[in-house]
Amino acid sequence: MSPELNELYARLADGRRHNGAELAGELGISRAAVWKRIESLRRIGLPVEGTAGDGYRIPHAIELLDAETIGQYLQTPSIRIEVVGAVDSTNARLALREPIHGHALVAEAQKAGRGRRGRRWLSPPGGIYLSLGWQFESGLAGLSPLSLVVGMAAARTLHEAGAEDVRVKWPNDLFIHDAKLGGCLVEVSGAAEGPCQAVIGIGINLELPESAAVDQPWTSLSRHAKGFSRNRLVAGLLTHLAGDLATLDRSGFDAFAGQWPGFDALADRKVHVSMAGGDDFTGLSRGIDAQGRLLVEHGDTLQALGSGEVSIRGR
Ligand code: BTN
Repeated sequence: MSPELNELYARLADGRRHNGAELAGELGISRAAVWKRIESLRRIGLPVEGTAGDGYRIPHAIELLDAETIGQYLQTPSIRIEVVGAVDSTNARLALREPIHGHALVAEAQKAGRGRRGRRWLSPPGGIYLSLGWQFESGLAGLSPLSLVVGMAAARTLHEAGAEDVRVKWPNDLFIHDAKLGGCLVEVSGAAEGPCQAVIGIGINLELPESAAVDQPWTSLSRHAKGFSRNRLVAGLLTHLAGDLATLDRSGFDAFAGQWPGFDALADRKVHVSMAGGDDFTGLSRGIDAQGRLLVEHGDTLQALGSGEVSIRGR
């Protein structure tokens, strides 16, 4: 977001009605220029209602992100926080930072948010779009359950913010009552044995507009918790992640495997598994193994899945 656009965004974020002429005066630009900027904000998904004559407003106030406030809530010294306006994708942007370890990039919005399996991630202003860089000394081999650890850290943070019943749908979707609240996109690079780096991205719907075009049942945190703070949530996510990622690197997944049943959105559910090669099947989800692979019972076999697309079929 350009500084000029950010100036207008910051004014509208209070959720009050702002008269077009007054905005023009405050920003030192013409009313036509205000309208142009309003259109730019609408293009990145800010649901601005009204016209220059009636005044402009957004339906819900947005707590603006602030690195200093996040820093005050943060309970770990090992993270550097960078707050940006609207970027293409925080994961893509963070990958360009050096050094990446301990660098957290948080954006007001994303213009090309990336989801798993090449999907897009709808990222209008007001949600959480966070990426954290982390270097693991233990090597790629031990990182297959990383997304589960990230999902559980996020679920714990959301629980602390007042949302009960947050579950992780293997491998890393955040669900409440079978509706998607958020997701994680973990991108790793490096050697099987030596040090490797991860970009850990988390997206959470806080107040997604009802008209949002999402191709599956979804929900927003505002439907499940009241009075949460966006900055505090970011700090909570980073605090949990920093602790859990260090433990994973030091002690492996054993420290987390026992926690999974408390978060498992698929426990004993009928699921449909879509495999890359087209060998789809339906079975019963039976938790995970010591490497974090999903165990699915079908026929006489218990199949361990390292990857694949799993959807819930009935209760
Ligand atoms: C999913 O498909 O469920 C994963 C969604 C991950 C979205 C987050 S938002 C912050 C980070 N930057 C991105 O471009 N994607 C991730």
